[in-house]
Amino acid sequence: MNWKKRTAKCGELNKEQVGKSYVLNGWISSVRNMGGLIFIDLRDRYGIMQLVIEPENNAELAEKAKELKSEYVIWCEGKLRLRTSPNPKLPTGYVELLLDNYGVINKSELPPFEIADDIETNEEIKLRYRYLDLRRHSLQKNFIIRNRVYQTMHTFFDEKGFLEIETPILMKSTPEGARDFLVPSRINKGKFYALPQSPQIFKQILMVSGFDKYIQIAKCFRDEDLRSDRQPEFTQIDIEMSFVEKEDIFELIEEFIAKLWKNVLNIDVKRPFKKMKYQEAMERFGSDKPDLRFGMEIVDITEDMKNCEFKVFSEVIANNGRIALINAKNAAHYSRKQIDMLTEFAKKYGAKGLAYIKYDKGEINSPIAKFLTKEELDSITEKANAQDGDLILISSDEKERALIILGALRLEMAKQLGIIEKVKDDFSFHWVVDFPLFEYDEEEKRYVAMHHPFTAPKSEDMEFIDTNPEKLSAQAYDLVVNGAELGGGSVRIHENDIQQKIFKLIGLKEEEAEEKFGYLLKALKFGAPPHAGIALGLDRIVMMLAKTENIRDVIAFPKTTSGISIMDGAPSEVDEKQLKELHICLIKKEV
Ligand code: AMO
Ligand code: AMP
Repeated sequence: MNWKKRTAKCGELNKEQVGKSYVLNGWISSVRNMGGLIFIDLRDRYGIMQLVIEPENNAELAEKAKELKSEYVIWCEGKLRLRTSPNPKLPTGYVELLLDNYGVINKSELPPFEIADDIETNEEIKLRYRYLDLRRHSLQKNFIIRNRVYQTMHTFFDEKGFLEIETPILMKSTPEGARDFLVPSRINKGKFYALPQSPQIFKQILMVSGFDKYIQIAKCFRDEDLRSDRQPEFTQIDIEMSFVEKEDIFELIEEFIAKLWKNVLNIDVKRPFKKMKYQEAMERFGSDKPDLRFGMEIVDITEDMKNCEFKVFSEVIANNGRIALINAKNAAHYSRKQIDMLTEFAKKYGAKGLAYIKYDKGEINSPIAKFLTKEELDSITEKANAQDGDLILISSDEKERALIILGALRLEMAKQLGIIEKVKDDFSFHWVVDFPLFEYDEEEKRYVAMHHPFTAPKSEDMEFIDTNPEKLSAQAYDLVVNGAELGGGSVRIHENDIQQKIFKLIGLKEEEAEEKFGYLLKALKFGAPPHAGIALGLDRIVMMLAKTENIRDVIAFPKTTSGISIMDGAPSEVDEKQLKELHICLIKKEV
């Protein structure tokens, strides 16, 4: 071995160890030659230690140190001493290691970006050199949190008698939800496996087997459009239990979340979590994952406008639509241009326009005021609780659409007005419950399951199953915090005949249901216990704990929004030979 093994780590040393000698290993973060003294910042996973060489006392070492450059990996030894000018911002900021000797273990090319926290660099370059980006403490801290989540999870669920069981990664394709990623089979010509979108069916079958408390850190794969909180490959904390009701799941998950927040952030989470019905969440916040840390609730004014002569309103009312508003407090200073930008923003959510009323220095400023009677304006002012300085944004649209538009504007205004910044350290956990069982898919012209087709309808709604299926509510629940969906689950159907009925209602013919889900239907015939479960998005939990808005910050090797892994270049083309073995022939696209 031509290097010395460390006897301490960079972040560990402080005033108490002054006077002792240490060997450190790490990467050079920076070298500052101040003439009289050479300072080197040495970095490892644990922190940064300032190294010093005094040319006066060690001219040879100082001369040799001219070779040192950023990101060289070195060993060094020396004695810890107090700094003459401490840096109280660093945990190791009061001490430095006066070097007796060092050696370069391995050199580094000049890195394509500086490895320091809060450095703005082109995202593509950072992903290409992900291993360098991951040297930054601000990213490493997220993986330390992620590890804490794993460990808390293992201990917590083990103590409660859960069994960790792995389910297959190569499984049967059952595209119900997102698109599947397919894997061709070499041995079974012309056949494909699919990567699991979730272990849903397997975990239910484990319940039939009698494993009444199952848990798994499950990798899931979904070929869907990606966003800042969505990756094609992500991780769930997947849970299923037998002989339970939804309240048992709430209790368990609340206790787990409280434990996580305590262990990671030392925060006491308020329990029990609030419960809000889906319909209420939509009507008050325009979202099925409302951010409850602030108000700015949606106010419905359809009834007040029923005789209104303004065409934009009267036509919507005639078509059974909705007119509703939010009051952006103290935003009357918004310029015409800013409001135009809000209108463009609303259009992304399907709005045809956006009306506004400014209550500006005692005057009402609005392009639609001239179309409204005094009574109508007064009722808007009163319902919106509008005061001088406020800006009211009004959407007039199809019933659900108006809510979605205002829900999006509510979040946008909260961001723009600095409201989110003020509540950024709060956590408002709640359950959204009583989702509709089905939603109508306009594209496919059929009902689809809002959660998934294994979710049980509420028992009191069962009378509608044959006559009015759109009236059915699901025994489903989402765990929501600060406007993000952290998890979702449901009580499952454990009776074969009801499961068959649900498949029929989503348009699956008997043979199709048999072909796709026959193995589940059969298992349900062999004494399936009542069961319920949930899957928590592990990546999203870590995002919340790490306070980052981008899921890539909590996944070691993430993909871009076009599903590409820039560092290794996946997905890539493969050899003709490989394709042949898999019985696959590509159709060459003409350019
Ligand atoms: P669901 O589809 O709601 O439920 O997923 C559960 C949770 O997983 C997270 N999640 C994602 N995270 C990152 N990227 C994605 N593409 C992504 N998709 C989902 C979310 C979500 O709340 N089998 C059911 C659960 C059950 O019923 O038990 C399921 O998968 O945080
Ligand atoms: P128009 O008659 O289209 O010029 O619209 C008059 C005003 O109504 C403008 O301020 C528009 O932004 C607003 N408006 C148009 N469509 C809608 C809508 N769907 N909801 C709310 N306001 C709208």
